[in-house]
Amino acid sequence: MSGNLASASLAAGPALLQAQGLHKSFGGVRAVQDISLAVPAGAIFAVIGPNGAGKSTLLNLLSGTYQPNAGTLAFAGRGLVGMPAHKRVRLGIARTFQKIRLFKQLTLLENVLAGFHIHHDVPAWQYFLPAGAFWRDFRRCREEARALLDFVGLADEAQKRAGALPYGRQRMLEIARAMATRPKLLMLDEPAAGLNAAEVALLLDRLQQIRARGITVIVVEHNMDLVMNVADRVFVMDHGEYLFEGAPREVQANPRVIAAYLGGEFA
Ligand SMILES: Nc1ncnc2c1ncn2[C@@H]1O[C@H](COP(=O)(O)OP(=O)(O)OP(=O)(O)O)[C@@H](O)[C@H]1O
Ligand SMILES: [Mg+2]
Repeated sequence: MSGNLASASLAAGPALLQAQGLHKSFGGVRAVQDISLAVPAGAIFAVIGPNGAGKSTLLNLLSGTYQPNAGTLAFAGRGLVGMPAHKRVRLGIARTFQKIRLFKQLTLLENVLAGFHIHHDVPAWQYFLPAGAFWRDFRRCREEARALLDFVGLADEAQKRAGALPYGRQRMLEIARAMATRPKLLMLDEPAAGLNAAEVALLLDRLQQIRARGITVIVVEHNMDLVMNVADRVFVMDHGEYLFEGAPREVQANPRVIAAYLGGEFA
């Protein structure tokens, strides 16, 4: 390896998630074509591009919602292809969805508690005959769930039904529920959609705090103010294909990215 390459990869940190040559087609639609990427551990990695560029499909491949037609995928050195989504959650991969998926009839607190189910420290028999470990676990989860609701600015609404929340707050609740799985990698599909300016500012701050906790973040987003202010790396897709990758400044200045997506936004 040349000195340059070695220092470049050192500067970026080791990759937590690596994809090589991912493909996904739906009938005749090539939603993701030959996508390779390396997401540095501890980074906020943004994926941007026009509508239909394949961003959500890429996230679905990374989370295991879909399996690729071709390509390889590794998380902390472990192969993911063929592994279903629920097993990836146990490895530390959590996500939110572009189309919100909450338990609308349950309270906010219950929605976050649902995220903890993969980590209960309770022997199975205690579910039938609740004893010490059950109640300790129960109290600890409720405390953590409340702390997560506080983290996303929803502490005062813990007992409301999730379905009664405005759209933007439902998105923040989804983040709290994903955090309850204690992820190493958190993937967010358009978290700023439907948020007002104050909520976007809170989201930006919380993304920085999530990174400060050592959690790696992949964020698909159309809000370019958010992306350019928070991302360490920006990966640009168009028509299912790789278009460009770089630091926010490089992306904003790239003529191909401007032509395909950004237009006059940063001119
Ligand atoms: N389940 C599916 N079945 C058939 N076609 C699909 C499916 N999911 C995605 N597609 C198609 O794949 C292409 C990429 O879609 P995708 O949702 O990944 O784009 P996107 O970049 O997330 O767009 P947006 O910014 O609008 O969310 C589109 O042409 C879309 O219609
Ligand atoms: Mg999408």
